[in-house]
Amino acid sequence: MKFRVRPVRRLAGEAEVPGDKSVSHRAALLGALAEGVSEVQGYLEAEDCLRTISAVQALGAEVTRKAPGHYRIAGAGLRGLTEPGDVIDCGNSGTTARLLSGVLAGQPFWTLLTGDASLRRRPMGRIAEPLRRMGATIVGRADGSRLPLAIRGSAQPTAIEYATPVASAQVKSAVLLAGLGADGPVTVIEPAPSRDHSERMLRRFGARLEVGERTVTLTPGPLRATSVVVPGDISSAAFLLVAGAIVDDARVTLHRVGVNPTRTGVLDVLEAMGARISTAQGADEGEPTASLTVTSSALRATDIGGARLIPRLIDEIPILALAGAVAPGVTLVRDATELRVKESDRAAAIARELGKLGARIEERPDGMAITGGGRLRGGVVSSGGDHRMAMALVVAGLIADGETVVDDVECVATSFPQFADIVNALAGAPAITVEA
Ligand code: S3P
Repeated sequence: MKFRVRPVRRLAGEAEVPGDKSVSHRAALLGALAEGVSEVQGYLEAEDCLRTISAVQALGAEVTRKAPGHYRIAGAGLRGLTEPGDVIDCGNSGTTARLLSGVLAGQPFWTLLTGDASLRRRPMGRIAEPLRRMGATIVGRADGSRLPLAIRGSAQPTAIEYATPVASAQVKSAVLLAGLGADGPVTVIEPAPSRDHSERMLRRFGARLEVGERTVTLTPGPLRATSVVVPGDISSAAFLLVAGAIVDDARVTLHRVGVNPTRTGVLDVLEAMGARISTAQGADEGEPTASLTVTSSALRATDIGGARLIPRLIDEIPILALAGAVAPGVTLVRDATELRVKESDRAAAIARELGKLGARIEERPDGMAITGGGRLRGGVVSSGGDHRMAMALVVAGLIADGETVVDDVECVATSFPQFADIVNALAGAPAITVEA
């Protein structure tokens, strides 16, 4: 499937972005492990998070869809999940594969996990290593570091203190989830803080946690069911924020966007680039939210790097690279080797695909150098099966001269199925049309 994208002069209106992907996965997993019935509202009904729902169902949790985004999860408790009858397919979803592995490290039965071609290329050794130390048996391709993996956990994992070499919320969360049934407190130490959705939600489900700047210690114990309201996903909002900043005549307000400080690096960078974004604080039901209004802005180049900033915006680098391509000056992206192990090698994909539209981007081992300020021209580009590349390329098409065709866009459904409809509504005309 392709998107044919026409340039637009104007974007105006209000929108609500779909539920946060990270928070949705966690709600399904914790709901399945809790005792009692949890209610989740605002759940992201996109392919990645629906994979997590199917996975917990395969493990014996009862999940009922009451309304769009509204799920009732009858938890099985820490010891009530059962061996699935078939391989669990995590699709494109790294969060499903890695967090679920943590859950499975606490389950005394075998589970087989696989994923699509992209996920089967992604590193799983980073979670397999600590989970093995906790007593799980994990075997699979590449010495048990690539999917498909077979995991056999234990009913009482061994407590560990784990210093993870990467600032990864997926690694941290996998160890904490395995630790729920452990024989003592489990500690994770990170090189820099990563998103803290697991810590916040574990507390909401009654877990005992001590949280420091780069450390978290969980004391094992049962979870009790609760209600979860999932905020809008700032990683999805980012595409519309950059679109609003770079389209000539734009004013776009996004409501109920999650603004957890471990996720708002994109706002800090856009502000440093001169983007006009105003924030009105919203509700906080475990995760802070805000309405964000962006208006057309004259962007300038900036530096995007540092061990503390990169984890706060790692998923937003494809769209920030487009902002860099528009902003006069050189925007450097540094310290971002993690880009190479996302849904695609994003450092390579950004340089190659935005380059086809006339952006001047030099790939570097840990990021890229973007010489911005020139005009982009329409062309034919491909997402390479990566949802965030697809959406960044579509936004590029909104400001390029002439028409842009973005190929291989089915992947948008993994995180933001309504993306094209929302852009078209804000454009007031079909800027994006779908082709087989
Ligand atoms: C996520 C953590 C990040 C992020 C991913 C979602 C999560 O990955 O890129 O999209 O929900 O924990 P890492 O933990 O690998 O940094």
